[in-house]
Amino acid sequence: MKHFVSMKNLSEHEILQLIKLSDEISNTGIPPFSNQLFAANLFFEPSTRTKMSFVVAERKLGMEVLDFNSDVSSVKKGESIYDTAKTFESIGASLLVVRHPEDNLVQRLAEHINIPIVNAGDGTGEHPTQSLLDLVTIYQEYRKFKGLKVAIVGDIKHSRVARSNAYALTTLGAEVYLSSMPEWQDNNLPFPYIGIDEAVEQCDVVMLLRIQHERHQNHTIMSADQYLENYGLTKDRENRMKSDAIILHPAPVNRGVEIDDSLVECGRSRIFKQMTNGVSARMAVMYQLLEKGGITHANNFNKRS
Ligand code: CP
Repeated sequence: MKHFVSMKNLSEHEILQLIKLSDEISNTGIPPFSNQLFAANLFFEPSTRTKMSFVVAERKLGMEVLDFNSDVSSVKKGESIYDTAKTFESIGASLLVVRHPEDNLVQRLAEHINIPIVNAGDGTGEHPTQSLLDLVTIYQEYRKFKGLKVAIVGDIKHSRVARSNAYALTTLGAEVYLSSMPEWQDNNLPFPYIGIDEAVEQCDVVMLLRIQHERHQNHTIMSADQYLENYGLTKDRENRMKSDAIILHPAPVNRGVEIDDSLVECGRSRIFKQMTNGVSARMAVMYQLLEKGGITHANNFNKRS
C-alpha cells in the first residue's frame, strides 16, 4: 500500500490487517518511529476531529507536524494543490494528509506524488480513515463482519463516509443496506434501499450520516422536526432496535435532526467511541504506509513475532 486514498479497491485481507492493527494499537499502544519524520496536514475544507486526531496520531508516532493553513499559504496567491503537495515533498515531508472539496482530487494527486498520501475526505468521494475507525468500532463490538446487517442512513448522495463504508463492509462480508429520503438517494450505488423502520428493526449497526448542508443546492427541503420524524432516529425507533444493536455517526452531529438529541450519548451509541478509535486507526494507517513502505527504521513493534 503506497497511499491510502480509497476503501473500494482494498482486499478483505488488507482491510482486516488495518482493523486488527488499529485495535491492537488502541489496546497496547505502539512505540514511536525512531527517525525524524514530518507529516503535513493539508486541509482545504473545515474539520475538527479528522484533523485533530491526525495531529494526535502523528505526535504519538513521534512525527513532527507541519501544520498548514490554506488561508495564509501561497494557495492564496494562486498556487495549485499539486504544486503545494510537490513543495511539501521537496522540503522533506514524509507523508501528506489531504482533505479537499473536489471528488477524486486526492486520488489523482496520489498518482503524481512520491510520498504517501492519506485521503482525509474528498468531496462526496471517499473518507477512508473515517471508514476504518467505523470498522474498528464495529469489530470491537462483534469481532466479525460476515452475517452482520448494517444500515447506512441519511444523506447518502452527498456522503463520502457512506461510500467508503458500503464498499469496505461489503468486502468484509457484511450485508449493507441504504436508507434515505428519495432526494438524497444515489442510485448509482449497488446497494439496496430500505425504509428507516425496517433498518432499525433488522440491522445490527445503524450508521447515521450527517446532513451535508454545505453540498446542497436546496437548503429548505423540510423542517428539522419533520426530517427526524420521517427519516431520523427517534426515541421510538431506538426502542425498536435489536437488543444488542449499536448506533454510529461520523459526526459532527446535527442533534435533533438525524438523531434525537437524547440518543447521542445513549447506551447503544458508539459515537464518541468512534472518535477515540480515530486516533489509533490513523496511527495504524500511517504506520502501515511509512513502516511497510520502508520510510522508517524498524522499531520494537515491528520486531514482534
Ligand atoms: N467525521 C469527520 O470527518 O469530522 P470532521 O469534519 O470534524 O473532521
